[in-house]
Amino acid sequence: MTLSLTINGTRYDIASDPDTPLVFVLRDELKLKGTKLGCGLEQCGACAVMVDGKVVLSCVSPVEVFESQEITTIEGIADTEIGQRVQQAFVAETAAQCGYCTSGLVVAAAALLSDDPAPDSDATKEALTPHLCRCGSHPRVLRAIERAATT
Ligand code: FES
Ligand code: FES
Repeated sequence: MTLSLTINGTRYDIASDPDTPLVFVLRDELKLKGTKLGCGLEQCGACAVMVDGKVVLSCVSPVEVFESQEITTIEGIADTEIGQRVQQAFVAETAAQCGYCTSGLVVAAAALLSDDPAPDSDATKEALTPHLCRCGSHPRVLRAIERAATT
């Protein structure tokens, strides 16, 4: 049986085993390298993608779970007006340092603003809680989200 996935609006037939975690299919099979692998244990947020509009960590769940869902990776995030605004705000606030956590944070911010166009700081901090940044970029990330919410 061929597994297929819808990613950033494109349908892909997948050759990987159905129990392969999604992040490996994205990065290794489809060469969508923007999604990062960090801990591999759903503990750092680096591998976040959007699935049917919600943030999902892609490093543990098997790819077969996502077959009938719409996946958006960082490569497709700027296809929406909100995603574009978030991306531009991250650039304007220099919210990335090494950048390893940034894809996951941009995905999380876009999902947050899609649900709540003007989140208060508690809601923003809660949305960012699963996302670790070893470079300490969170203050700039918070400013970027504030900028994206108000521009
Ligand atoms: S790599 Fe998935 S949460 Fe860390
Ligand atoms: S910018 Fe380096 S881990 Fe976040």
